[in-house]
Amino acid sequence: MMIFESHAHYDDEAFDADRGELLASLREHGIDKVINVGASLDSCKATLRLMKAYPFVYGAMGVHPSETAKLNEQNFAWLAEQCACEKVVAVGEIGLDYHWKEPEAAVQKRWFERQAELARQVGLPMIIHSREAAKDTLDMMKVFRAGEIGGVVHCYSYTKEIAREYLNMDFYFGIGGVITFKNSKKLKEAAAYIPLEKILLETDSPYLAPEPYRGKRNSSLHLPAIAQALAELKGITYEEVVETTCRNAYRLFRIAE
Ligand code: NI
Repeated sequence: MMIFESHAHYDDEAFDADRGELLASLREHGIDKVINVGASLDSCKATLRLMKAYPFVYGAMGVHPSETAKLNEQNFAWLAEQCACEKVVAVGEIGLDYHWKEPEAAVQKRWFERQAELARQVGLPMIIHSREAAKDTLDMMKVFRAGEIGGVVHCYSYTKEIAREYLNMDFYFGIGGVITFKNSKKLKEAAAYIPLEKILLETDSPYLAPEPYRGKRNSSLHLPAIAQALAELKGITYEEVVETTCRNAYRLFRIAE
């Protein structure tokens, strides 16, 4: 039984020194598949390269809200073309991030909507990034009927009440290292409430390493610690968490088992 890594950024310079070695070691540590998630045009290009080099790496093509000022019609057309590549399984990460004030909300919203439309056109699920923007994200998703497109809210960080809204749209929830933090009461409450059938495991590597590695570089090798924390929280076995979340990822990203 293997773990599915649903969100990592192995193109990040934090992995420049040992990327190949680390990726090659994942299987022997029980990590089966990895989705490398684009966050900028450059990281989308790097993701395409990683997908070609490693059979177990899949890709998501998208531009993170904080990077959307760099988008224009020309490079957006390029992004749209890449979605047809084999092993591209999602559009993301896309959404709204009001923690960072740039670019302004109107720019973030415009490109969130364009990228969501793209996901609908190409028939791929979305990987949503939403930080300090719960209401606007939900409002927009209702307007463009995100439930028909489907996807996952990555690194879910909102309340149980907001989780219910996403569940109504049949969305999945990415749960990562934050679940192991002592001060993550709100997330623990939400994760206890969300059915296991709607949860994906993720690390967001190189960010958000779980305890006791908090603050250090994260990698998919820490996924067992996240699965263990989720199992304890839900009062179920580690095996059940790994097996069900893996099956969830195969289903959402339509990867043949
Ligand atoms: Ni990410």
